[in-house]
Amino acid sequence: ANGSALAGKKVVITAGPTREAIDPVRYLSNFSSGKMGYAVAAAAQAAGATVTLVSGPVQLTTPPGVARVDVDSAEQMLQAVTRLLDEGCDIFIGCAAVADYRMAQIADNKMKKTDADELTLTLVKNPDIIAYVGQHPKRPFTVGFAAETQDLAAYAQDKLTRKNLNMIAANDVSIDGQGFNSDNNALTVYWQNGQQSLPLATKSDIATALIALIADHHNQ
Ligand code: PMT
Repeated sequence: ANGSALAGKKVVITAGPTREAIDPVRYLSNFSSGKMGYAVAAAAQAAGATVTLVSGPVQLTTPPGVARVDVDSAEQMLQAVTRLLDEGCDIFIGCAAVADYRMAQIADNKMKKTDADELTLTLVKNPDIIAYVGQHPKRPFTVGFAAETQDLAAYAQDKLTRKNLNMIAANDVSIDGQGFNSDNNALTVYWQNGQQSLPLATKSDIATALIALIADHHNQ
């Protein structure tokens, strides 16, 4: 994207994992490092947008000129996104690996080991943040990611429709050297009547190409 492709646009990007507490000392999470979402934030900023990152816990520095709201859980991420939508948002990009489930009840105290060889945790569904954005009365141009280990195209296109998105970036996370925690990535981006593949490159280059695609489609 050139330096003004997203001039004057407010962009909100979720990045990183969420952490779902089990008890005061344990949590459920995933291997997202935040690198992809942070690269997308830097690319959107370079394209002239006003960018806010809603970030799960990651070990990354905030890209210069980007605002950042830190959250832990999916419920906190939804709260932050809701507030930012109310404040006005033109483009939403959901790069976070949000936990689909959380504990039905977080234990008040550290759970003790017992004599039993098995432990069963009861989980309940988390809110789907990007599906909420896709139904919002002030719905922005909405872009999702889909991390898949099989049937990439079919699952991604299903999420595009079901979550009411404008675009979805399908990420094959079964291949070594791309996806979770890698410095490189490869995506296939789908929209209603088309698709484009962004072959293996640094997350920074992939992010720049993705932002150029988003700028083209958003401005149509
Ligand atoms: O962070 P990195 O280490 O750089 O890795 C990047 C990545 C692999 C995490 C990233 O490229 C990626 O694919 N992110 C999406 C991961 C994911 O959780 O995909 P999903 O198929 O489960 O979710 C589909 C879409 O719905 C995503 O836009 C996700 O942000 C969103 N979602 C999912 C569940 C939920 N409760 N709320 C959501 O908003």
